Amino acid sequence: MTSRRLVLTHSAALFGAAAYGLYLPRLAHAQDGKVRVGLMLPYTGTYAQLGVAIENGFRMAIDEQGGKLGGREIEYFKVDDESEPSKGVENANKLVLRDKVDVIVGTVHSGVQMGIQKVARDSGVLSLIPNAGVLAATGALCAPNVFRTSFSNSQPTRALGAPMVKAGLKKAVWISWKYSAGEEALLGFKEGYLKAGGTIIKEIMVPFPSVEFQAQLTEIAALKPDAVACFFAGGGAAKFLKDYAAAGLKGKIPLYGSGFLTEGVLDAAGPAAEGVITALHYGDGIDTPRNNAFRLEYAKEFKLQPDVYAVQGYDAGKLLVLGANAVKGDLSNKKALYAAMGNATIDSPRGKWKMSTGHNPIQDIYLRRVEGGENKVIGIAAKQLQDDGPGCKMG
Ligand code: BEZ
Repeated sequence: MTSRRLVLTHSAALFGAAAYGLYLPRLAHAQDGKVRVGLMLPYTGTYAQLGVAIENGFRMAIDEQGGKLGGREIEYFKVDDESEPSKGVENANKLVLRDKVDVIVGTVHSGVQMGIQKVARDSGVLSLIPNAGVLAATGALCAPNVFRTSFSNSQPTRALGAPMVKAGLKKAVWISWKYSAGEEALLGFKEGYLKAGGTIIKEIMVPFPSVEFQAQLTEIAALKPDAVACFFAGGGAAKFLKDYAAAGLKGKIPLYGSGFLTEGVLDAAGPAAEGVITALHYGDGIDTPRNNAFRLEYAKEFKLQPDVYAVQGYDAGKLLVLGANAVKGDLSNKKALYAAMGNATIDSPRGKWKMSTGHNPIQDIYLRRVEGGENKVIGIAAKQLQDDGPGCKMG
């Protein structure tokens, strides 16, 4: 073999191994220097507030450790991903190739996450998902270096259908944005609602991030379903709640949703949100010492009420702390790092949870109702719900 072919063969083999980051100490930073943490989140657009809450929660978990990871100082690098899927790969590469981060924390939007997932799989960089629920990330495209601390898109809505049917609401209209988060939330809803004996009489999909709901609300009024179920989040969720009430549907057709509908928007939506029932892996009103302490500390530090996004960011920080401590700050020790993170039990404000084999939380799903400007927990819709990572083959 010529020396050039030898070099190429050797690099190809190393690249293959590096795809999962098991052998190559990524682009040689001293493991006793600062840990380079990349935050790829939306800081503008309809999900801007979600990005801020995730960053706050993440920093809070790190601050609880004296601002260090496994004894090492941290340097942060930030990219506003604008919830723009077409820029997902380019933005993730800015963090990996330009800023040479050790870990990417991001993001919110499922379409953008697919860009991060590609970069994470190709480069082997550690990827922590603090929100985006796209099924493939912990399913068909799962990877040893990718860990989600939030949910998968079908998890919250899988638990929503049975309580609706139990309340006598057997004919529903579904409405959501038309992209993977809305489509996969619908998958979960269908599974639970149809199994419980419900019928979906119409599926209405609105382009993301449109907040023009008038025509769709007129159509819903004409269809006269027993109930409406939906997925919206962030600024769009607040607008949908207000438009639903303004269209005269509130009080006539009960509104249900994936719990993101009422997260972080209760001040903005005001009375329009009262009485709305949702399912989610968190609720403001979880009355445990752990959640109460978290809420107090967060409100003190950020002068804001925490929401599910803050909790997911916080848990991403906790998971990283736990991993970094297990390898004493040597993040190039991938095998031990991934084992510690994969086997972790996270003592979260939402309740303790562990990772599935695809690296997605196994967690309780709460049924909540908005009462007095709070997401009150009114029951457990599903206990220790797994996303079993369809198609996941951990390489
Ligand atoms: C998503 O795109 O996966 C998503 C965005 C906001 C809230 C929940 C899910």
